[in-house]
Amino acid sequence: MARIIAGVTSSHVPAIGAAIDLKKTEEPYWKRVFSGFEKSKEWMANAKPDVVIAVYNDHAFDLTIVNKMEVDHGLTVPLNLMFGSPAQWPCPVIPLAVNVVMYPPPTGHRCYMLGRAIRKAVQSYPEDLRVVVMGTGGMSHQISGPRAGLINSKFDKAYLDGLSRDPKKLARISHMEFMREAGAEGIEMVMWLIMRGALDDKVKEVYRFYTVPASNTAVGHIILENIERKTKARRPAPVRESPSKGRRAAAHPANQVMVRSKR
Ligand SMILES: [Fe+2]
Repeated sequence: MARIIAGVTSSHVPAIGAAIDLKKTEEPYWKRVFSGFEKSKEWMANAKPDVVIAVYNDHAFDLTIVNKMEVDHGLTVPLNLMFGSPAQWPCPVIPLAVNVVMYPPPTGHRCYMLGRAIRKAVQSYPEDLRVVVMGTGGMSHQISGPRAGLINSKFDKAYLDGLSRDPKKLARISHMEFMREAGAEGIEMVMWLIMRGALDDKVKEVYRFYTVPASNTAVGHIILENIERKTKARRPAPVRESPSKGRRAAAHPANQVMVRSKR
């Protein structure tokens, strides 16, 4: 059975991609950002997922139907941060594009429930695959208008806390609250709830990173692992031989079969 082993979220600031392309990752401004992902790359190299499901948003489409779609920085920046920049990704990547640009964007609750559906779909797959789900975008940012450059670290950090410990509370945040607290583009954070919905209710937080600024936004990142459950072999229920218990057992068809098999 395929299973989700972990979830990762990361901002997908386009300037990070430009810094990689222009080989500026060692410059002091960018080193602060990239050094925050060194442990993440190590974690990913050890996790060795067979598949990554990467949730991201396109940034420029009008309403349309597409049969072939190029991915943009929403997908490529987080993958570069997690895998480095190899000639090709070390495992298949399934892009899941979510509209958060055109009205109506999905609510956090809808995204969380989509994550639940993804978990079921993965678990129904018979092949033994280890899957990492990535949610990208955010954190607080606004790129135009009077509040351009808005960063709300308090909200961002509380969101990271909630993602780890109380995602259902985050799923109740309205669009209006996202816009007010995290800026017009902060709505991208609903995509992190798709990742979180795909994980178990209780998870282990293995890494977190937050820095301000990168370009005109905050960069946030978290790695959450599902806690491995050891499946215990089920022991057969003991056969009860005392007369009173035997009578009780005989009254129940399922138990009756068990008692008879002992004779
Ligand atoms: Fe974005």
